[in-house]
Amino acid sequence: LEPLDFSLLPATAAVIPGGLEIGGVSVLDVAATVGTPVFIYDQADLRARFHEAYSIFGDGVAYATKAFLCKAIARLAFEQNLSLDVASGGEYYTCRQAGVPAHKLVLHGNNKSAQEVALAIEEGAQWIVIDGFGDLELIAETATRLRKRVQVLIRVNPGVEVHTHRFNRTGNRRSKFGFPMWNGDAEAALNDLHHHEWLDLIGLHMHVGSLVFSTDTFLSALNAVADFVKMADLPIFVVGGGLGVRYLNSDTAPSLREWADAIFDYCDHKQIKSKILAEPGRSLVASTAITCYSVGRLEAKDMDTYVAVDGGMSDNPRPLLYDSGYELFLIREPLAERESRVTLVGSHCEAGDTLVRDGGLPLSTKLGDVIATPVTGAYGYSMASNYNKMPRPAVVFAENGEATVVIRRETYADLLACDQPLDRISAE
Ligand SMILES: Cc1ncc(COP(=O)(O)O)c(C=O)c1O
Repeated sequence: LEPLDFSLLPATAAVIPGGLEIGGVSVLDVAATVGTPVFIYDQADLRARFHEAYSIFGDGVAYATKAFLCKAIARLAFEQNLSLDVASGGEYYTCRQAGVPAHKLVLHGNNKSAQEVALAIEEGAQWIVIDGFGDLELIAETATRLRKRVQVLIRVNPGVEVHTHRFNRTGNRRSKFGFPMWNGDAEAALNDLHHHEWLDLIGLHMHVGSLVFSTDTFLSALNAVADFVKMADLPIFVVGGGLGVRYLNSDTAPSLREWADAIFDYCDHKQIKSKILAEPGRSLVASTAITCYSVGRLEAKDMDTYVAVDGGMSDNPRPLLYDSGYELFLIREPLAERESRVTLVGSHCEAGDTLVRDGGLPLSTKLGDVIATPVTGAYGYSMASNYNKMPRPAVVFAENGEATVVIRRETYADLLACDQPLDRISAE
């Protein structure tokens, strides 16, 4: 395989003697001090991307925290004026603990609990996105009981099949999300909400899927809702997230600017007067991080050479879930030809625990080497698990020569923090 395309790495990545640095910090030094597996984020790159999103869309644009959330990143997004899209009480709590005010939080969810809704209304969340009639009833009933006005958006489901993995489609006819447009539900919700005493309907929302690589796909989804958006004539129209990113040397993807411009132009053309907002996740954070692993085994077996590392499906379930591909490279020779065809596997007791099938590494790769997969900043740590009782990795933010551990590595004791021995349960 050809060398890694360096443009897949975070913005401040640079080759240094004997390795690679990110944010002015040697990746091998981080691996030596913090251990592996470790996610290393380029803090300046994150900040710049958040800033870019704000400069394109303006007030109200949200970072979709499901892509990756910890207190540090919530703070960083907030400091760049972004709102934060939270899809659960846990995401809401994390942002609040990071010091993000409720009025910068947009609450999502197809099954919001009564507590989640009450807290968001009491604390004055920016917006609540209504996902269905049951949701509408709960939000209306809660706002009325608390006698507090809340701004809401209606999530519409345009019923289009976007071109992405079927697990990533959210705006098709079999999706659980939003009010279907094709059977009149979206219109019924709109009529219901127009004159509500405690709910201020300020906009419509759609999100057709994630990892969508073509702007045309977005435009055809927009085409399906454009007349409805125009007819509703509300102040805000949120087009969701879903912009794809490059994972492989061979991938191409529009930039955030190109994606936004295509959407703005189309909405202009359709004479939609609402302010256009978005809530990107992946496209803001995916390329800002790499995951480093240590090589524990190199085994040639019949048709494959297996490189086994100290992580796997528990720190990156995407290959198993979506059949996603990743590049692979050796940290001490990041630009080397990758002559050795290898399959990168994790340490889990699971046949599907393959991180990279038919990847490449330099022939010089040996036991103990630190290798990395780039573009792991989104839906990696946030989807991590403790399968096989594997502690979740550390997460480091690097900037100006300083490495900050923003999430420490879990310990075995952490794994048992909620675990009660049987004798105690029966005694209680
Ligand atoms: C409602 C909503 N908004 C935004 C996003 C972010 O999508 P992405 O990370 O693909 O930009 C998602 C992800 O699934 C979502 O469900």
